[in-house]
Amino acid sequence: MGDIETGSTLPAKTHPVLATKGAEIENHPNGNGNGNGTTTKSFSAREYLSDRAKITQIDGIRGLMAVEGPGIVSFVSHLLLYFDDFDVSANIRHGSQLAGRPNPTTFPFSSITLNLKSPLDKSSSGEEQSITIDSEDLDIALQYSPSPGLNKLVNWAVDLQSQVHNKKKDDSWTVSFGSGSQDLMSKGFHTLLNPGDPVLLETPVYSGVLPPLRLLGAEMVEVDVDDKGLSAKNLERILSQWPEGKTRPRVLYTSPTGSNPSGCSAPRERKLEVLEVCKKYNILVFEDDPYYYLATELIPSYFELETEVYPEAGHVIRFDSFSKLLSAGLRLGFATGPKEITQAIDVLTAGANLHTSGVSQAVTLRLMQHWGIDGFLAHGRSVAKLYAERRSEFEAVAHKYLDGLATWVSPVAGMFLWVDLSPSGIKDSYDLIRHEALAKGVLGVPGMAFYPSGRKSPNVRLSFSIVDLEQDTELGFQRLAEAIKDKQKALGLI
Ligand SMILES: Cc1ncc(COP(=O)(O)O)c(C=O)c1O
Repeated sequence: MGDIETGSTLPAKTHPVLATKGAEIENHPNGNGNGNGTTTKSFSAREYLSDRAKITQIDGIRGLMAVEGPGIVSFVSHLLLYFDDFDVSANIRHGSQLAGRPNPTTFPFSSITLNLKSPLDKSSSGEEQSITIDSEDLDIALQYSPSPGLNKLVNWAVDLQSQVHNKKKDDSWTVSFGSGSQDLMSKGFHTLLNPGDPVLLETPVYSGVLPPLRLLGAEMVEVDVDDKGLSAKNLERILSQWPEGKTRPRVLYTSPTGSNPSGCSAPRERKLEVLEVCKKYNILVFEDDPYYYLATELIPSYFELETEVYPEAGHVIRFDSFSKLLSAGLRLGFATGPKEITQAIDVLTAGANLHTSGVSQAVTLRLMQHWGIDGFLAHGRSVAKLYAERRSEFEAVAHKYLDGLATWVSPVAGMFLWVDLSPSGIKDSYDLIRHEALAKGVLGVPGMAFYPSGRKSPNVRLSFSIVDLEQDTELGFQRLAEAIKDKQKALGLI
């Protein structure tokens, strides 16, 4: 709970800025920078925060809100923006006067009823069912609510993360909701990077992270994947050759499952190798994992594995999304990680949009109450199964037309085939897509779009999530193969 005097929810003590020069790494509290894991004093994730995030505090008025509660008649507050242990419903029940909140009797909704589709998994029992949001849950959904998310939904997500990622529930980590993981990652970058800071990006990279990084003027350092996802070797090479005296990167972005666009999934051993390198160089892992549940078998996350490498948790911030599981239009995702960082994200939420849509949260919460964690996981498995079936049909057609012209890593998760045209001699897929492919009537995303440097790429990203598998897939690959051959002729390769 926040400090009443200052309104700060962050520790009052100002910690030194994380070591930014090679020589200073040795003084970082998390080990000695030589990779031997010696812990000299206890680690605080606060040290990863950007300079601005460290001094941004919850203002005094909101600090006072933290002591509002049953029995207190409050005329002080404007909006309930932030704090994670405040029971909104208790205040509604006890009639606290949170001035600035609109009077809910003016809201023209008495209930929200959701008619559910029958489950994807036809073998499970269950027909179409209805669930309703009303009474107190509706009041909460329609009112201003805490920045990290509705308390009940936050608690549900903490339970989920604890169960799925084998994480003991304790005070060191929590969950914050945002308008999709995109919103949270953008805020996450702002809480961790000073303008102009370097950031390590798994490349090819999800292009959605580029706009917030460009806004920050970040130096984007490309760390190429291999067939097992982010390469620990490439990471080590870049960090070991980092120029003396130059600000060192503190954050590594990776999308480890069914990566968009590479389709790669990093197995457990690879993640451990990457974590070892991160430990050596004091790097915080940004684990963007919207396709986590779209894997045929769940792969242990960085969030789970970090304590196999570090003596303590707090070096991974994980981003989950409901977009691929419930609906992309709900705009709901959650960040999980050390409280110092999720709270710094909440401060940005409080200043930008106050909180994520209460209605989206309440719809999701009601569904999760109906399903339970087991039902949610069962749904995840059936979604993964659907994509796996689509993937194998799609890939079979790809082989029929592209064998000899292209190669790819067969994805075990996600919705993308990252097709490498190198066997055909084509080095720039942009040119192919823009000219020959377009002329034939087929489109994919040229690889160039996924490299911040805009370097030429022989890859094309093909998505099998919604394309018609009956006719369009066959036609598309046939046209792509023709386009590749036309390009080969134009380049004098055949
Ligand atoms: C790798 C990756 N991260 C994040 C997102 C954004 O997800 P959300 O809808 O939760 O904002 C996407 C969306 O496609 C994605 O592919």
